[in-house]
Amino acid sequence: MTSYRLAAPAKINLLLRVTGRREDGFHELVSIFQGLDFADQLSLRCSAEPGARLTLENAPDLDAGPGNLVMRALMAYGEAAQLEGGLECALKKHIPLAGGLGGGSSDAAAALRLAETAQEGALGVEKLYEVAASLGSDVPFFLRLPTALARGRGERLRRLAPPARPLWVVLAVPPFGCSTPEVYRRLEGRFTQAAQAEAEARQLAEALALGASAAELAPLLANDLQAPALEVAPGLGDLIELLEECGAPRALVSGSGSTVFALVDSSTEASRLVNQALSAMPQTSFIVTSTLASAPEVIVCE
Ligand code: C5P
Repeated sequence: MTSYRLAAPAKINLLLRVTGRREDGFHELVSIFQGLDFADQLSLRCSAEPGARLTLENAPDLDAGPGNLVMRALMAYGEAAQLEGGLECALKKHIPLAGGLGGGSSDAAAALRLAETAQEGALGVEKLYEVAASLGSDVPFFLRLPTALARGRGERLRRLAPPARPLWVVLAVPPFGCSTPEVYRRLEGRFTQAAQAEAEARQLAEALALGASAAELAPLLANDLQAPALEVAPGLGDLIELLEECGAPRALVSGSGSTVFALVDSSTEASRLVNQALSAMPQTSFIVTSTLASAPEVIVCE
């Protein structure tokens, strides 16, 4: 039976400005999302038996029940496309949980893309995007890889040119995660003016398109969730300091944390940074990756 495979990449936010709080409790964002060449792996096949089924690999802390975001994505797809049969998915995790790298959202978006391919485009781009937005604020971005400017809750997206000079990315993943709602709660009105956020996004998008180096990008990176994330997890401050002391032009919390990332220009620099930082922070996991240049494609296995 035909099965379909797809990589579900992690993301970082090169810019994340929160410009206000909305009536629905969510926050208004201006953010530049960048996909990474570091991914979970999903495979999917259709079955005659109705419903959604998920098997997990390398994910001892994840539940494969109906609360799992991939299960929710499969069920939402089945309902929207009025499927008579079922969808069976296998997920192999690599992206850390609660790390601000969008792993769960990326898995959900990949499950939707796989289901849509298996069903020969039954839903259509717009409806698929609507289903993605109903699953979580970050999910639609993963249908707009590799680089995008997000507004609204994160679901209003404009595709951007990926970095003209690919960047190496060092991810420092501490042994604890951050709760996204908790970090947003702690923000307590420390918002950025929308006009300033828009100007910053324009400047950063231009620098990326022009092939700016890691040092040139460093002053353009910003994250309004960093201060509240540091309050929720004070250890993150030490991690940022350490990476910068070890020579990173800039270290920043990704999304709501707990991952801290640093951009560098070469794999040699990335390895040197990790080797130096690792001896001071043995409990932190370091991942060396790079910015994604294009969206992964679905592989059909007959
Ligand atoms: O949309 P998602 O379920 O990923 O959001 C998780 C939590 O993050 C929300 O419940 C909310 O507390 C916070 N959030 C927010 N504003 C956004 C995105 C997320 O307040 N734009």
